[in-house]
Amino acid sequence: MKGVVLAGGSGTRLHPLTRITNKHLLPIYDRPMISYAIEALVQADITDIMLVTGGTHAGEFLRLLGNGHEYGIERLFYAYQERPGGIAEALGLAERFAADDPVLVILADNIVERGIAGMVQRFGAQEAGARILLTEERDPAHLRHLGVPRFGADGRIERIVEKPEDPPSTYAVTGIYCYAPDVFQVIETLEPSGRGELEITDVNNFYVEQGQMAFDVLEGFWGDAGESIDAYYAVNDFVRAHGANKG
Ligand code: G1P
Repeated sequence: MKGVVLAGGSGTRLHPLTRITNKHLLPIYDRPMISYAIEALVQADITDIMLVTGGTHAGEFLRLLGNGHEYGIERLFYAYQERPGGIAEALGLAERFAADDPVLVILADNIVERGIAGMVQRFGAQEAGARILLTEERDPAHLRHLGVPRFGADGRIERIVEKPEDPPSTYAVTGIYCYAPDVFQVIETLEPSGRGELEITDVNNFYVEQGQMAFDVLEGFWGDAGESIDAYYAVNDFVRAHGANKG
């Protein structure tokens, strides 16, 4: 399995901090944000990694990560997204890197208390389709900023609704996804959403409709440090007090 770390976007929700750097390089406690996503992958034994970024600060990632060996990465590749076209478009840039292997995709602003090795193992047994990581979230105001699954009577996901006015459950879709190699063909069929982006939720709903979507529910803390300045500080406070990627 290969890893794709998505670290693009313009980070408007963290302006003006993100006028002078990329969001994923801002500090979380004592390290740049992106190093937590990399650590999560390496702990799950994923050491062939592509980092997709964009914008005017892309060179700083090379300065931070170099060839990746210091972080336990065996082979580190970089891709450049010309304009913020959405998470699914960014993932599409990793097609040749993936070269018919399944991929674990992580948004570089997502930080977890516990590791993701269990999810990766379970996807390994799954063979086809996709697997996503959910987190329990009871605050409807928070759910309105995220992807939210609607469950059927059989407990399977029936649909994922992106940024719902009226959240259909008390679970959020985190930015951690496993896909079979056919994900790149799915991306080719997507149309831009209302915000002009290729949405990862549309990719996920494709697998839901095929009956090929599995999920795990995360244990412990999850945070999207890029969601708002308050979320950024909440993640900082948590990691400073309790750490992250604890296995
Ligand atoms: C993205 C996804 C959303 C998911 C979130 C997790 O949202 O579209 O479904 O819940 O990441 O971090 P965005 O950060 O692009 O608003």
